[in-house]
Amino acid sequence: MSAKPPRYASWTAGKLPLPELQELKRRGEKIVMVTAYDAPSGRLADKAGVDLILVGDSSGMVVHGRESTVSVTLDEIVFMTQWVTRGAKRPIVVADMPFGSYETSDEQAVANAIRLVKDGGADAVKLERGGTSVARAKAIVDAGIPVMGHVGLTPQTATVLGGFKAQGRTAGRAKQLRDDAVALQAAGCFAVVLEAVPSAVARAVTHALGVPTIGIGAGPDTDGQVLVWHDMLGYYEGHAPRFVKRYADLGETIVDALGRYAEDVRTGAFPGEQHTYKMPADELAAFEAGTS
Ligand code: KIV
Repeated sequence: MSAKPPRYASWTAGKLPLPELQELKRRGEKIVMVTAYDAPSGRLADKAGVDLILVGDSSGMVVHGRESTVSVTLDEIVFMTQWVTRGAKRPIVVADMPFGSYETSDEQAVANAIRLVKDGGADAVKLERGGTSVARAKAIVDAGIPVMGHVGLTPQTATVLGGFKAQGRTAGRAKQLRDDAVALQAAGCFAVVLEAVPSAVARAVTHALGVPTIGIGAGPDTDGQVLVWHDMLGYYEGHAPRFVKRYADLGETIVDALGRYAEDVRTGAFPGEQHTYKMPADELAAFEAGTS
């Protein structure tokens, strides 16, 4: 009986090599991605053993309280990527290219992707849509930066799609979606996110691609899954899409902790002896006598 292969064929320490993702797909082992936006979340995701971290522009909604991701800036993603990469050492860190940072030209896309890698410390970048994004992806790959594609529900262009709703639900739209994913692979993308698409479509795209697909609201047959940190941990008051599974209720835990803290402050139960600093008795006596 042969032993189960280790999760990673070539990794022993340090950063996970990108080709490991391809290996995981080949062996049929699921790839785990989660979003993170700061050093503690990066560190915790690393500790939990996730393969990939996405510094997503979902931060605009779940961290910064906006209605959509559209106004997220490149500087914000650069800062958050710096924070995440200080905490996460092993997982591959993918920085989202925000809306407006790659649409104008290949040159703009390459310059901004370079910023995310050089200033942010990202290992790879992600951009949304097929169409003109295919050429942008190729230009960035040609500049030596790994690119992850993203098709289906693409929140940056949700207005054009008619809102935050499932995509690829007609034969024609499903074919377009698969063609976009195939084109992104041909452009050199190392993986493609499939967001909010029927499971059958995600399965077909996953079979059509040699590179891994990472699903969010795309059913069980993608090569991996991604969830947004605040959604999966119950740390977000806004509407969570139906595809989110909640693994914790940190919001409730935090409200409970803050409530107990407020109560302790008001009753004088906090701070206690163990939370206070002392000084030598003679220094205190001198201080109180006003002679020091
Ligand atoms: O910004 C983000 O978090 C994303 C994921 C939902 C894939 O793009």
